[in-house]
Amino acid sequence: ARGLLKRPSRLAFEAVAVTRADTISVPEGYQAKTFIPWGTPICGSYPAYREDGSNTAQEQAEQTGMHHDGMHYFPIDARNGKGHNSEHGLLVVNHEYIDAPLLHPNGPTLVDGKRTIPEEVRKEINAHGVSVVEIRRSPRNGWEVVGDSKFGRRITAATPMEIRGPARGHALLRTRYSRDGSATRGTQNNCSNGFTPWGTYLTCEENWANYFATQDSELPRELQRYGIGKTGRFGWNTLEGDEFQRFDATRKAETASGDYRNEPNHFGWIVEIDPFDPQSVPVKHTALGRFAHEGVIFAPTGPGKRLVCYSGDDSRNEYIYKYVSRDKFRPGRPDNSRLLDEGTLYVARFNADGTGDWLPLDIQDATFQAACAAKGIGFADQGEVLINTRTAADAVGATKMDRPEWGAVHPRSGEVYFTLTNNTNRTEADAANPRPDNAYGHIIRWREESPEHTGTRFNWDLFLLAGPEGDSRGPDNQPLGADNILASPDGLWFDPQGLLWIQTDMSGSQHSDGPFGNNQMLVANPDSGELKRFLVGPVGCEVTGITATPDFRTLFVNIQHPGEGSTPDNLLSTWPDGPGKRPRSSTVVITREGWRRVL
Ligand code: FEO
Repeated sequence: ARGLLKRPSRLAFEAVAVTRADTISVPEGYQAKTFIPWGTPICGSYPAYREDGSNTAQEQAEQTGMHHDGMHYFPIDARNGKGHNSEHGLLVVNHEYIDAPLLHPNGPTLVDGKRTIPEEVRKEINAHGVSVVEIRRSPRNGWEVVGDSKFGRRITAATPMEIRGPARGHALLRTRYSRDGSATRGTQNNCSNGFTPWGTYLTCEENWANYFATQDSELPRELQRYGIGKTGRFGWNTLEGDEFQRFDATRKAETASGDYRNEPNHFGWIVEIDPFDPQSVPVKHTALGRFAHEGVIFAPTGPGKRLVCYSGDDSRNEYIYKYVSRDKFRPGRPDNSRLLDEGTLYVARFNADGTGDWLPLDIQDATFQAACAAKGIGFADQGEVLINTRTAADAVGATKMDRPEWGAVHPRSGEVYFTLTNNTNRTEADAANPRPDNAYGHIIRWREESPEHTGTRFNWDLFLLAGPEGDSRGPDNQPLGADNILASPDGLWFDPQGLLWIQTDMSGSQHSDGPFGNNQMLVANPDSGELKRFLVGPVGCEVTGITATPDFRTLFVNIQHPGEGSTPDNLLSTWPDGPGKRPRSSTVVITREGWRRVL
């Protein structure tokens, strides 16, 4: 729906130098302003943020959550996917996870490794999920949250949701909460995102698996292959009561519908939210597969075309997927959402000769059946294939990638770009993942053979090898230098003129003492090969999430977990509120002097 803007011939800004400053650094001539940090009131009674962590669970459910991640700006006139308003819209933001030590006045309470205070855990559950924020810009005050909004909404890890697609009602989705396997509660670990041509938001469930615990010694593949362990990340499963026990997947009763052994099967999906209808029930679309969904990105579509979208599974040695709808897109129809319920899910094989194949994960397909039979892997129905997407992809021999993160589709050429952030577990290189012990990551791209992206053949190459000057290759085939060294590329987005924005998520020693400084954002011109650093974030953060207004005069970027590892007594960053204040994840509004287009 967005129009293409004319692209400048060169990137007309001075690259930002690598830095470890506890601030946002942008090029001269640009302004970066904090917006809707964690705890900002956005709905209900608009409770004010209290900087000592003492907001209640209910107040947290009316404020922005923690750990801002993927997001999208919907012009206020964009219901049904159209709209151009660049001064009034809905900003929809993922909240991936939490820093528990900063969420409460003195961190979480644990007694013998168990949680004891339900109110604390409820606050943690409410700090996850998604925010729908109505925002408006005035020339005098800039962007502000609209008070008393009819759209403002928090979706949390407890919000009721519907399950749709081929796995709806499956025996493996039946739980005590939903005895017919058609409903669930909550979305969590919402990392990257997407948006549909009909004006809805898609949020993706990534590292949900470690929130669940099971004491069973033998795990079914749909738990085992996703890494469900004996302890839950924040111990939610250790509290009594149905709202917490659902995170305990241990078999307890005679039947699956008597306990929560299947609750983990309700996660790992793509969830659709209609931001323009605050009463709408979010939908988990099982046809798009179950894995650690990083994001979802659509190929260009139009009236009478099938929908095509891509999604990566962000874990070491996991896969890249493509979904093609069975039916065609008809703008304005109220049931376009059904396009995400009937279609074919494919997984990518990158061949050494630069070609690639999309392998269908379809129980009706003869090659899929043969591959499963050859490996002794059986599925009763398509629902079981989708619940076990990773196992199905193993069966067909897809290419194990170096942690597939975000994708982006070039608005003109249709080329698809994907970040592969790193993989220090890789022992053997292959053509598409050319470095063993890949600490720095790379970006791959491909061009589909079929112009509408619906076919099963593609041609790929490597766009960039991230790393320091001595171990990298830029889009111009030269080593990277002072203006553009980077590591662990993660967020990826094409702006309306076809420039590629790249965000990084280094961690550990690469982050604390490498040559790369704090996490950053760069912009590339894929045609000329130019690549320059545009922004560096504050200490300990990840730079993630990016969207813009249609006029491209406002760019929204998210800063996640500044001062990661901080406690109330030991603040490793005090961005954005300043000395003595707890660090907060936040959106940053970037504008250019003279109210010009950002680039
Ligand atoms: Fe949530 Fe793959 O980063």
